[in-house]
Amino acid sequence: MIKTVATTPYTDQKMGTAGLRRKSQTVLQPNYVENFMQSIFNVIGDLKGKTFVVGGDGRFYNDTAIQKIIKMAAANGAAKLIVGQNGFMSTPAGSNVILKNKADGGFILSASHNPGGKSGDFGIKYSNASGGQIPSSVSDKIYQETLNVKEYKICDIEDVDLSRLGTQEVCGMQIEVIDPVKDYVEMMQQIFDFAAIRRLFENGFTMRFDAMNAVTGPYARKIFEELLGAPEGSVVNDTPLPDFGGLHPDPNMVYAKELVDFMFSDKAADFGAANDGDGDRNMILGPGFFVTPSDSLAIITDNFNLIPAYKNGIYGVAKSAATSTAVARVAQTHGIGYYEVPTGWKYFVNLMDSKRITFCGEESFGTGSSHIREKDGIWAVLFWLNIIAATGKSVEQITREHWQKYGRSYYVRFDFEGVDTAVADKLMADLEARLPELPGQTLEGFTVSDAGAFVYNDPVDHSSTKNGLIIRFADGSRIVYRLSGTGSSGATIRVYLERYSKTDLNDDPLKMLTEIFKIAMAVAEIPERTGKHQADVVT
Ligand code: G1P
Ligand code: ZN
Repeated sequence: MIKTVATTPYTDQKMGTAGLRRKSQTVLQPNYVENFMQSIFNVIGDLKGKTFVVGGDGRFYNDTAIQKIIKMAAANGAAKLIVGQNGFMSTPAGSNVILKNKADGGFILSASHNPGGKSGDFGIKYSNASGGQIPSSVSDKIYQETLNVKEYKICDIEDVDLSRLGTQEVCGMQIEVIDPVKDYVEMMQQIFDFAAIRRLFENGFTMRFDAMNAVTGPYARKIFEELLGAPEGSVVNDTPLPDFGGLHPDPNMVYAKELVDFMFSDKAADFGAANDGDGDRNMILGPGFFVTPSDSLAIITDNFNLIPAYKNGIYGVAKSAATSTAVARVAQTHGIGYYEVPTGWKYFVNLMDSKRITFCGEESFGTGSSHIREKDGIWAVLFWLNIIAATGKSVEQITREHWQKYGRSYYVRFDFEGVDTAVADKLMADLEARLPELPGQTLEGFTVSDAGAFVYNDPVDHSSTKNGLIIRFADGSRIVYRLSGTGSSGATIRVYLERYSKTDLNDDPLKMLTEIFKIAMAVAEIPERTGKHQADVVT
């Protein structure tokens, strides 16, 4: 039944910030998935005795790609696959299934927060036995392999039925189809005070969770409505659809418009939240109030003692360099470890494995803890619900009190999308070359204290990673520039702005960042080089 098929390499199968992400049309090319998967299997080497976890966010091509992966894993000699029913599994649930079953790794079929469907994106994220995505050293090897792959192995069998739970044997390999929600829910019940949150809803508290027609609908319905007693209908857009019903499943102020409009209307619920396509991102809202992900990480860290699983103490906290410094002040106050890593969740994995950190987060709506090795959207929502249940305070009150205690980091990210790749690369290279001239200069009233590339030296595996450029000002303000590594066409320049104030707590972030924005545009010559005077997306 095992066939060896000749193939020719593609040159564009390099993984980005989180796995391989391409236009669906690109992935539809003959042998595109096969080449990529065979390259991974070749780098792993002997698959004998190995177990992998497979699932996806249900987007277009999930069903086709998963069958290819099953047939190829079997042909390459894997012992077992643990597959989510009907091919579904969220990224955090997948990480948990890997860890719980001591699997050798896993594949989540998702392009995360990128739109899906035939004209959208498709992707494959590959995790190892840590439950987190592979380090760049491994993805570099896989990329080299994709440039040389000449054949792939596949079992010539009918598609496998993934609708029935239980174990079956396919081409000499075991397939266990599991309910992807069950283990995840049990884990959440062990972390949070479900009884307290239930009481909150019994007392009339209301919430709206927007699953954005993506993978978290069934998880959210089970947890928020069935187990915690949120009124039926609290979870909206809860049926995963191949094209996400046309939504762009990125939980932010721009793309989660339906939820934002509702939460800023007079019908708003007490609490609003959304997750992205594969369930690892989250957005937190109160009535007429938005919590930035950077603040959310700081508030979560400050309140660890309210949550059953963390009340005995946490190791430390980490953030991506681009994330605001709000959490740094919390770490200092609590006397816990604090780390800054490059953008991408995989950089947190070593810190969690070595018990240096418990919590971590990114400005890009990612928050999580060492319960798994991926960010976790529903975990963050439950964390907030648990804080609310324990304190009796609203989202806005919790956040404002946090600012009163620590001061406020005004923070906004500006994305310049669809920039020519060569233009973007040159912009970054030229900017980096000019940065050493900046310290000491005063621009728009702000004095530059320090400027350079962000370089991370991993304390565990001693690898060194350069990611982005940072300009720091004497008053604590910062500009961070990076190129996105998750897009599927052209380049996106991300510009992250931060300004800290201990006393001005109620200003408009864009107003507070007016001068810093001008500096950021001028120093990098963004209008001159890209023709853009404004960002395409502001979050
Ligand atoms: C983006 C985010 C980053 C996140 C990644 C995967 O990557 O900025 O924080 O880890 O998506 O969700 P980027 O496109 O910036 O490389
Ligand atoms: Zn995601």
